[in-house]
Amino acid sequence: MARSVLVTGGAGFIGSQVCKRLAAAGIVPVAYDTLEKGHDWAVKWGPLERGDIGDATMLADVLRRHACDAVIHLAGYIEVGESMRDPERYRHNNVTKSRTLIETAEAHGVAHFVFSSTCAVYGTPRTRLLAETHPFGPVSVYGETKLAVEEMLRAPGRRLRAIALRYFNAAGADPDGEVGEAHDPESHLMPLAIDALLGVGRPLTIYGDDYDTPDGTGVRDFVHVADLADAHVRALDYLAAGGSAPALNLGSGHGYSVRQLIDATARIAGQRVPHSVGPRRPGDAGLLVADTTLVRHELGWTPTYDLDAQIAHALRWRRSMPR
Ligand SMILES: NC(=O)c1ccc[n+]([C@@H]2O[C@H](COP(=O)([O-])OP(=O)(O)OC[C@H]3O[C@@H](n4cnc5c(N)ncnc54)[C@H](O)[C@@H]3O)[C@@H](O)[C@H]2O)c1
Repeated sequence: MARSVLVTGGAGFIGSQVCKRLAAAGIVPVAYDTLEKGHDWAVKWGPLERGDIGDATMLADVLRRHACDAVIHLAGYIEVGESMRDPERYRHNNVTKSRTLIETAEAHGVAHFVFSSTCAVYGTPRTRLLAETHPFGPVSVYGETKLAVEEMLRAPGRRLRAIALRYFNAAGADPDGEVGEAHDPESHLMPLAIDALLGVGRPLTIYGDDYDTPDGTGVRDFVHVADLADAHVRALDYLAAGGSAPALNLGSGHGYSVRQLIDATARIAGQRVPHSVGPRRPGDAGLLVADTTLVRHELGWTPTYDLDAQIAHALRWRRSMPR
């Protein structure tokens, strides 16, 4: 019988790609999702169990029925701005319910746990590249909720073995065009730039062009969603082989400014991206780029898709995606 892994948030942008990658590795991905933000059309590579990670009874039933021996936990709310406006909702969904998931998984013999964390757990960058040892200090409630779950997983006495993967900016779309990003409302830079170009979204606002960066706009580290998905399968193997790093950065190690992203998008599409410059947003850092030394060493992982490929895949997806 093929091995099964529970993928919470499996109907979302990154979760659906993780499911595809797991299936390619011969593992049955059991997508567990409320569908509050995800889509049933994105669950194509295994069963969909519609449920909440805060529901211990349903979780226990699903873990037992599918005999899942590992959990990949991507479910959660993801918007930084919303987390500042409604912190309790974020803490409840991302932290309290994650505790229920972790404890239920542990009670049902789940051995390995991979958690979707974020570079938002780090404090204001003190170095050009952010390594896993950089001091914590999230400036948003969203980042704080992710750090709280990381700490829960590292608490003494945990029986399951866990790893937190700290994503930088997830981007692109499935290279075969089968699934992609479909958030409503969308808050991520690449899809917003593409939607502005396609005329289905508002002109893009650049939040600040007076940062201490080469062109004054913020610099971010974009990583292709298919490369992210690949790292999750490697993380499962890593835990099974006794790997013990508690957290790894998932980024490309290269930074691109907002202006560079706009220019590259326009070049690839052969069309201008309508945009304007607005003031900085509170809590935004000028430069967020990963030091990827540790993940390359521990998982043998290296991103394979560059920024142009990410834009090309995202562009194709957004031209055809269900809206
Ligand atoms: N997209 C990024 O750039 C990025 C960066 C860093 C970290 N992350 C993390 O990666 C994960 C996935 O992000 P995404 O972009 O795919 O988001 P997404 O919104 O597309 O997917 C999240 C999924 O979780 C589901 N969900 C939310 N709360 C749930 C609950 N209580 N029970 C069950 N399902 C629930 C939603 O319905 C949705 O399908 C999130 O945890 C996010 O914080 C994303």
